[in-house]
Amino acid sequence: MSDGFVLAVGNQQVACDRSLTLLENIHRAGFRALSACRNAACGICRAKIRRGNVHYKQEPRGLSEAERVHGFCLPCAGFSDADLELEWAGLQSKDVVDVRKISCQVQSVTPLNTDTYLVSLVPADGSQPQYAAGQYLQLIMPDGSPRSFSIASAPESQLIDVHIKVIPGHERAQQVIDHVQRRQVVTVELPFGECHLPDNEHPLLMIAGGTGFAPMKSLIESSLARHEARDMWLYWGAANKSQLYWHEQMLALSTQHLRLHYVPVLAMADEGWYGATGFPHLKAADDHGDFSAFEVFCSGSEGMARAVYAFMQAKEVPDHRFHSDWIDILRNQGAL
Ligand code: FES
Repeated sequence: MSDGFVLAVGNQQVACDRSLTLLENIHRAGFRALSACRNAACGICRAKIRRGNVHYKQEPRGLSEAERVHGFCLPCAGFSDADLELEWAGLQSKDVVDVRKISCQVQSVTPLNTDTYLVSLVPADGSQPQYAAGQYLQLIMPDGSPRSFSIASAPESQLIDVHIKVIPGHERAQQVIDHVQRRQVVTVELPFGECHLPDNEHPLLMIAGGTGFAPMKSLIESSLARHEARDMWLYWGAANKSQLYWHEQMLALSTQHLRLHYVPVLAMADEGWYGATGFPHLKAADDHGDFSAFEVFCSGSEGMARAVYAFMQAKEVPDHRFHSDWIDILRNQGAL
């Protein structure tokens, strides 16, 4: 048998090497695809097999039994020995990627708490960054692989900020921090994602978990910079108070702007914590009951996005009023 096979995605055909993962093969061919963990854990690269077979070196943790039965695979860790056809919503055309690629100077890398960093970038050519509040970028690593991060700054700012959390035992985020600390100039691609300020005056209800706060910060700062009139409610959930790494700034901002309502929610009460505890979307439901007036934004883990989406569906929030990158990705993958 030959060492090669052909991977077909839509009208794209990629000559592949059997010794490489499907994701490595498309990177080698100059394509990009949405990915995060690249070890079959997070599920973000999920694609559907239309023809052929995909196998793995280890059991893929990011794929449920039901998803396997329905023909889904994880290209970041999947191999094939023969021609393969995939429905791969996260695969991006070379043309689109090329026009979005820019060089950025690393302005600063600042710890926000024990494990989360603020990385500030500036376009190296001095141009104004082009993105909408709430969107995300991909930082290109030295091996060409992209790492996705929500943009935490507002497009009205000259900076492009991202918040990166380093989790012990997960080396990928640490690799990004090492990369931006070593390099003066890095490559990013932007913008991605459909979550941005809606073209109406409806109030915003923002449900964030951990560094899912980043795109909410961008939405809030952009709305304030545009002098919008809408009310904004942010429910920011975290495991403990130190994970609310922008807490003091949010308290100060919500004091200055009466249309901004900030509600921090800890999973469990910390020492000296007198605020809300539990899940942020349940706290929002306690406060509002009816969500029909809101544009709802959700940012955090896939599990959180699924739970909040299901909750909002039960509350009859229509899909066009619910904004979440994870839900968009899952819907594009046919995984919802
Ligand atoms: S990138 Fe995480 S499962 Fe593939």
